[in-house]
This record gives sequence, C-alpha cells and structure tokens, in this order.
Amino acid sequence: MRIPQHLAIIMDGNGRWAEQRRLPRIAGHRRGVEAVHEIVTVCREIGVGNLTLYAFSSENWGRPDDEVSALMSLLSHYLRGELKTMLDNRIRLNVIGQIDRLPANVAAVLRETIAKTADNSEMTLTLALSYGARDEIVRTVRKLANKVAVGEITPEDIDETMLSAALDTGMLPDPDLLIRTSGEMRISNFLLWQLAYTELIFSDLFWPDFDRKALLDCLKEFSCRQRRFGLTGAQVKPEK
Ligand code: FPP
Repeated sequence: MRIPQHLAIIMDGNGRWAEQRRLPRIAGHRRGVEAVHEIVTVCREIGVGNLTLYAFSSENWGRPDDEVSALMSLLSHYLRGELKTMLDNRIRLNVIGQIDRLPANVAAVLRETIAKTADNSEMTLTLALSYGARDEIVRTVRKLANKVAVGEITPEDIDETMLSAALDTGMLPDPDLLIRTSGEMRISNFLLWQLAYTELIFSDLFWPDFDRKALLDCLKEFSCRQRRFGLTGAQVKPEK
C-alpha cells in the first residue's frame, strides 16, 4: 500500500452524528476527539509523515457561543491528555491559522505543546485552527509585500517556491491525499494553494465513525490512483 507523505483531513459530520442520536452537538465533537486519537495512532503506526487536521475554521467562530467554547475546551483537554503520547511516539505538534485569535489559555497550551514536542521527528501533526485558506494567502501576500516595501526582495523574486514557503504550511510538503468525511464534496476554504495536485477522497462516514478500517480503505483507494501532475500516463513513473 502506498502511504501518503502528507495526509490532510476535513473532519466533518460531528454535529449530524450527534443529531442522529438525539444528542447535543457537543457529544459529537467529544466522539470526534476519540476519532482524532485513533487516526493519529494509525497514521503514526503506518508511517504517514505529516497529518494535517482541519479542526476549526475561521468561519467556525460564527457558531453559537456555547459550541465554540465547548470546542475550545475539548481542544485544550485533548492537548493536555495527548502530550505524553506525542512525546512517547515522537510526534511534533504544529499549528496553522491565526493562533492569536484563540482564547489565551488555549493559545498558551498550544504554544507549550509545540515547544515541548519541537524536537520530535517521526511525524508532524498539524492542527488547522482559526484557519481559512484565503486568509492564509492574504496574510502571506501582505508579508511578501512588506519585504518588497523594505527592499529585502523585488517583485520579480516572488515565484511559486517563495510563496509556498511563506504560507503557514511553509515547512510541509503539499498533501498527497485529502480525505473529507460526512459525504460533503467541498474544500471549504482548506489549503487552497496546497491542494493543487492532491488526490481527493470523500467518505460517507461521519467523522466520529471514521476509524482505522475506514482510513485503510481510503489509503487502498489512494494506492490505485495514478498521479500525473499534468503529464501523460506514459510519462509518469509508477509510484511505489
Ligand atoms: C465538523 O463537524 C467538525 C468541526 C467543526 C470540529 C472538529 C473538531 C473535532 C473533531 C474535535 C476537536 C479537535 C481536536 C483536534 C481535538 P460539524 O460540527 O461541522 O458537523 P455537521 O456538519 O454535521 O454539523
């Protein structure tokens, strides 16, 4: 089976999972955290080097206050609870998005976990938090424009490599595979630049039901895909 070097996941359907069971939406998010634990474990086991999870979008701030604060407290609880697992398994935590918009206590536990896991090199777990791809691109363009303004670079220096490196994901390879759960077939402002040549797989399962078997099924499908990057089938070397 071909293992993606970078797997990105849009974890969708927590709310509907809960509503189907007549439970409050937060019960779905709570089960969603258990799914996060399982999927991180499997990815580490099979050698996915980079896993990026869309945990909270810029648009999610518009949800009811009690849901937003419940998600924030689940997140800090998760980080505290998983630190030992991350250290034992040499997993590095990384964040993309506007960490400064998060409540101070959540930003603090994130910064602390990032610092404590910084030397780990087996797998990078990136959480997209208060993340929107258009916002990321705008912030990046502004950053490069400032460099031009102070004479550090010229407009002609700006190319795809420089822009890629200046994005929040600058240290990560582009995703080979994106999975979105819950049957919705949208990108929802996630990694718009980085997904240019990514394989997309949509699973009908709600995120709390997305388990080891579901992930391995997606990876089997990914293994059958031929990635051509705009070339012809005859030009590309078969991937392992
Ligand atoms: C989508 O379900 C899920 C989210 C908006 C949040 C994802 C968060 C978690 C899985 C838990 C916290 C994360 C970590 C990394 C510990 P939805 O609420 O949009 O579901 P719906 O579309 O059915 O309403």
